[in-house]
Amino acid sequence: MANLPLSSFPSARILGVETSCDETAASVVENGRVILSNLVASQAELHAQFGGVFPEVASRQHIRTIYPILEQSLQQAHLGLGDVDAIAVTRGPGLPGSLVVGLNFAKGLALSSGLPMLGINHLEAHIYSAWLYEAESYGGAAIPEPDFPLLALVVSGGHTELVLIKSHLQYQRLGATLDDAAGEAFDKVARLLGLAYPGGPSIQQAAEEGDPRAFVFPRAWLEDTWNFSFSGLKTAVLREVRRIEVHSAVLPVANLAASFQAAVVDVLVGKTIRAAKAFGAKDILIAGGVSANRALRKAIHAQALCPVHIPPIFLCTDNAAMVAAAGYYRYVYGQRDPLDMDVLPNWPLTESWSLRPSWSLRPS
Ligand code: KG4
Ligand code: ZN
Repeated sequence: MANLPLSSFPSARILGVETSCDETAASVVENGRVILSNLVASQAELHAQFGGVFPEVASRQHIRTIYPILEQSLQQAHLGLGDVDAIAVTRGPGLPGSLVVGLNFAKGLALSSGLPMLGINHLEAHIYSAWLYEAESYGGAAIPEPDFPLLALVVSGGHTELVLIKSHLQYQRLGATLDDAAGEAFDKVARLLGLAYPGGPSIQQAAEEGDPRAFVFPRAWLEDTWNFSFSGLKTAVLREVRRIEVHSAVLPVANLAASFQAAVVDVLVGKTIRAAKAFGAKDILIAGGVSANRALRKAIHAQALCPVHIPPIFLCTDNAAMVAAAGYYRYVYGQRDPLDMDVLPNWPLTESWSLRPSWSLRPS
């Protein structure tokens, strides 16, 4: 695939739609970077009573919310459907019942408006969240763009992957978690400690009052690989909790949370920096829900030897602006998807190209 020079990227507005998990979102983004609107309806409160996402409840809630969210998103951008060039929608990975709602909704919009539709990989969308900025921030000036080759760490509730990105849309997967995703570990340990769902923000908050050296939890370095493992750490926290409970002492939640968080951050930051060095990356990018974590952000900025790109907090967790941003680059490289495409609940990032051999990989 040709690497387009920046100056030849055409102008386009993309409508993004995201329903892969428990956020219903719609957004309009200009030229892959400028957020014109960004609406997210989180279902977190609805799922908190179950201690995690209840798939059936999630898809029903997406159905209720998607249309008003789209309307508000267009209103906020002061645009109509006729003012956008394409519709980008998350096709996978994610919960099948949730993905189907967004995809079918996008198909309906595409059919009625005649606009082209593009299916987007959710992990790719997280990566492209680092390209976004709000029109009114920085006096309208663009934040610096990530530079290739780029080392990306995608850390969310479902994924923990180290990816080398050689140019736009070209990914080499270096490693991934062998068991729990980092966000999943945050959510499970939060439950163990009696903290609210979603676990990441709860652990972060509790950890702020705690000592990260109070407990020495294991770090799975998995030397000679770029993989991760968090299940041993989760079990170590469980064992410590059980040990304390036997003595019926009060659980030192803040210290447990801080020590757990420190173990996760050490490994994520350590391996990302090593990989960036090993593969000669110019820049580092961290994205996905866990990249909202303050300790992680502080540690990578303090330790990295090259520029680090992490989206602002509101773009770390699921949103549709990131889908529209990834959609823009796919749109200009010529991707157009048929209306009979289906969801791909287990879609690996690196298979995003090979699945559609009919694409013409050239600037439109
Ligand atoms: O990217 P995301 O919104 O959804 C997925 O694609 O999975 O990520 C959600 C995950 C959850 O596991 C949540 O606990 C975690 O991101 N998370 C955090 C923080 N905020 C969200 N983890 C650590 N610290 C945070 N501040
Ligand atoms: Zn996500």
